[in-house]
Amino acid sequence: MRRSNARKGLWLATLAATVWVAGPGSEGADSESSGPALTLFFIGNRMSEIEPCGCKENQLGGVQFEATLYAEVPAARSLRVDAGAWTSLALNPERSMRTRYALRAMGGLLDLDAVNVGQPDLEQGPDFFEDVGAKHPEAIARLVSANIYLKAEPGRLAFPAWRMVEKTIDGEQPLRVAIAGTAAPLDKTSKAAQFRTRRFEADYVIGSAADALNEILPEMKAGADLTVALFHGTWPETVELARAVPGLDLLVSTSRPPTVETGPILEGGVRILSVHNAEGKELGRAELRRGADGWTVVGQPVWLPISPQRLVADVAALQLLKEFRANTEELIVQAPRNPTRTYAGAQYCGICHVREYQDWVKTPHFHALDTLIAKGSQYDAKCLQCHTLGFQKDNGFYNVNESRSMGGVQCETCHGPGYEHAAKQNLVRNGSVNAMNPEDRARFLADLKRLNPPSRVEAGTCLQCHTPENDAHFDYDLKIRKVNHEISPPG
Ligand code: HEC
Ligand code: HEC
Ligand code: HEC
Ligand code: HEC
Repeated sequence: MRRSNARKGLWLATLAATVWVAGPGSEGADSESSGPALTLFFIGNRMSEIEPCGCKENQLGGVQFEATLYAEVPAARSLRVDAGAWTSLALNPERSMRTRYALRAMGGLLDLDAVNVGQPDLEQGPDFFEDVGAKHPEAIARLVSANIYLKAEPGRLAFPAWRMVEKTIDGEQPLRVAIAGTAAPLDKTSKAAQFRTRRFEADYVIGSAADALNEILPEMKAGADLTVALFHGTWPETVELARAVPGLDLLVSTSRPPTVETGPILEGGVRILSVHNAEGKELGRAELRRGADGWTVVGQPVWLPISPQRLVADVAALQLLKEFRANTEELIVQAPRNPTRTYAGAQYCGICHVREYQDWVKTPHFHALDTLIAKGSQYDAKCLQCHTLGFQKDNGFYNVNESRSMGGVQCETCHGPGYEHAAKQNLVRNGSVNAMNPEDRARFLADLKRLNPPSRVEAGTCLQCHTPENDAHFDYDLKIRKVNHEISPPG
């Protein structure tokens, strides 16, 4: 049967009649006349992001600003949940370290009530959870999942299925909220699946979310005033789950419906709220109220931009981010002993191309590594790939201690590796070529022409770094004039 749009429409219409928009700081005129109200903050799909890179102003995100939004409502009157996928799919030491700090933030200073474990999150593997848990118990203490099992011990859950939290709204009885976690097993035919590794299958089994929820729901309901399930999966899976667990009050999903922009959506008697954005850029907020027929969402949920421009940074979070940056030093990669020499480095090029060199020094590309040093991000592999030359390739940049001369966006970033060109031109320059016998010399000179680096730089080269994320309005025709060595008059 298809989703009943008529019913949904009716419900939305009913809702519209009683709507007041719940924005931050806005006071509901009817707040005193109704039953207890609870502010729900919901987020998900962090993908290891704890703070934007800072390449561009106005970038959204950052746990230091997320913390500020939570602070607008006392913890006792708010529910804070993460619906999962706080790990990015790229598994490397830098991403794992970011994930570790994301967990520490969620369990520590952000003080979330529950954090769901999604399928991508399992990719980190049991050793990761064990290690984080041993060093920072608070970081994993709020993880919940009712349908992720340990492969080695059939039937045994890898995380607590659900947790109960108590809230105290002024002048009311304590309010008990039961929050369960659920994940969709990886649909191997889905588009998303092709981007995902399946390392998790070695250690975990994901069972049916609906079966697991139905099994624990009576127990959850017995002690709780409100039951919530967090879910990581696609939108169709979200709807399917809601219909399969009619007794549940609220489902918070990492996926959003394809058509309806706001919400909540009612399916099978369950209200669904959706995370709208990824990488920790927006925080969902909804006002929940208990009336005569149970819980409702008052008005429309809102998705608050986590905006550095509008919010004041939380000091404790800044401290955590500082610690993160200091810890990235652990990610240092040693330069190989005898690397293949494909890069010459700007200083070498500059011996002959003096004018181009002097112009380049005046561009921000020259000091791109210094920018990272100033921020304390000089060990962060995520940043270095765009702020250095030949990151972890051949004799390119490896680390700030050993390969400082390959720092910044250099000549060879745009013109391609040029060691051979430089070395051979040097033989011309120092006269060695004149000592060659005519045959060798002819071959050498033919080679020399072939090795000339292309001077024209295509837009695609710039766009590798000037991505929409890092430079939203990059205009090749405009910006090329700032890097084509015409800053100084031709000499
Ligand atoms: C995909 C490539 C890319 C990555 C990855 C990247 N940057 Fe950048 N960064 C850029 C580009 C391009 C600019 C210039 C943007 C502009 O001016 O419009 C920039 C500019 C900056 C600036 C502003 C410089 C200034 O003075 O205006 C800072 C700060 C910065 N990046 C820090 C970082 C940090 C920290 C990281 C890692 C967390 C990082 N970047 C990762 C490409 C990148
Ligand atoms: C020892 C001197 C020397 C060094 C070092 C050197 N070049 Fe050259 N380069 C030349 C000469 C001479 C030419 C002109 C060759 C010709 O006209 O055939 C040239 C040509 C070029 C061109 C093509 C210019 C055009 O008009 O098409 C580019 C681009 C270039 N070099 C970039 C570089 C880069 C990048 C480096 C460093 C990796 C570098 N060069 C190092 C001497 C040098
Ligand atoms: C390897 C990555 C990389 C490539 C490739 C790259 N840039 Fe950049 N670009 C950067 C970074 C990083 C900065 C910021 C440097 C800083 O301020 O620390 C930057 C800054 C700039 C700036 C100054 C800021 C602005 O937007 O006005 C201009 C102009 C620019 N790039 C133009 C270009 C053009 C044009 C190309 C292609 C021909 C190009 N870049 C290729 C990384 C790159
Ligand atoms: C951000 C990209 C970028 C960087 C970095 C860069 N160049 Fe260029 N270079 C260009 C562009 C664009 C042109 C002009 C191409 C054209 O004529 O269409 C150019 C042209 C040249 C030419 C041809 C002669 C001329 O001046 O027009 C040489 C030689 C050259 N660059 C050498 C260098 C050297 C040496 C460095 C490093 C010190 C360097 N370039 C760094 C983009 C870059």
